[in-house]
Amino acid sequence: MRVAIIGQGYVGKPVGIAAHGAGHQVVGIENDLSRVKELASVLGYEVTSEYSKVSGASIIIIAVPTPLDEKREPDLTFLVSACKSLKGSVDSNVLIINESTSFPGTLRNVIAPILGSNHMYAAAPERIDPANKIWDIENTPRLVSGLSEEATKKTAAFYRTFCREVITVASPEVAETAKLFENTFRQVNIALVNELAQIAYALGISAIETIHAASSKPYGFMPFMPSIGVGGHCIPVDPSYLSFAAREAGVDASFILLANKVNSLMPGYIAARIEKLLGGKLTGKKIQIAGISYKADVSDTRESPALALIANLREMGADVTWHDEKVGAYNGEKSSNLEPVDLGVIAIAHSGVDYSKWRISQTMVIDLSTNPNTGWPKLL
Ligand SMILES: NC(=O)c1ccc[n+]([C@@H]2O[C@H](COP(=O)([O-])OP(=O)(O)OC[C@H]3O[C@@H](n4cnc5c(N)ncnc54)[C@H](O)[C@@H]3O)[C@@H](O)[C@H]2O)c1
Repeated sequence: MRVAIIGQGYVGKPVGIAAHGAGHQVVGIENDLSRVKELASVLGYEVTSEYSKVSGASIIIIAVPTPLDEKREPDLTFLVSACKSLKGSVDSNVLIINESTSFPGTLRNVIAPILGSNHMYAAAPERIDPANKIWDIENTPRLVSGLSEEATKKTAAFYRTFCREVITVASPEVAETAKLFENTFRQVNIALVNELAQIAYALGISAIETIHAASSKPYGFMPFMPSIGVGGHCIPVDPSYLSFAAREAGVDASFILLANKVNSLMPGYIAARIEKLLGGKLTGKKIQIAGISYKADVSDTRESPALALIANLREMGADVTWHDEKVGAYNGEKSSNLEPVDLGVIAIAHSGVDYSKWRISQTMVIDLSTNPNTGWPKLL
């Protein structure tokens, strides 16, 4: 089948690789020209910015960003613009599948009305976890549902060509909401454990030991680890799509809003703990942060709480540099080599980082990462 994939980012690219690997004729449509250039010769399938190349495709997959706007409400600008661009080039009776994360009703009430009744539509939200070495596109079950039975069947048959398990649900709204709920589940549990970290500190006990102790219960408990907060395109964003849908439906999603708040206050809480650790004043103190992306072994800095921690520490007068060779450069600043400082902070523990400069210089180091094995003392 000829398959066009709109957006060649963290989601569109692996889907393109998987569909190409399954023998489909893939074309990636990407409107960032530098990305087109970067990907054109390495993927084995065509990547172009020309929407006219969707002509001849019997399946079109949409995988474009769905961020939050400045009021932290759903921003469907990219999705709407992709649909409008598609409208002029798509053949008739094509299967249009949305993989982008959005609130329930997006397929039915936003995408289908722009592209018209002459097509089949399905939701198949992507659940990929970048850098996860165990779970990938092939072995993570795929939820699918179409606006018609035929759309559901065709979508399920397509994903079966490269996913081991395809689960059909009753409506696209169930698939859309399930995706949001998965990430909201993580958001809420991370907030809860971050709250526990604050309680444990005030009580003078170890949060981590407490969590391990609770984990010995063989049923009804799932451990989450405290951290600097949540980042990336999903966990800090998707719950706000669910709370938006809840509000539109007349439900006050207070639990989700509270979890957002607890996590977003973590960098400030940690900055205050660091200030205390360094004697109550940060003015002139040299602090180096290791790892500024939102999680280990990725270069993505979107919504990264490490950046909020840096901003907090600088506001409090500290002289902050950062080391992250995966990110390399951010906001006009470059990754600096690890060096002797007043405090080294492991925000995110990328694999393969050489901390020997801190070790040799006996720099005081605290570890905020969820990696249990860095060998440095945990702050939370
Ligand atoms: N990153 C993740 O881990 C992840 C996981 C599951 C779901 N999602 C969801 O998948 C969707 C895509 O996320 P992503 O992380 O791949 O984003 P991304 O920014 O990495 O990639 C999206 C790509 O789409 C391109 N694009 C934007 N508008 C376009 C248009 N009109 N036409 C063609 N190309 C366009 C951008 O240039 C970009 O390269 C979002 O809804 C996101 O929430 C992301």
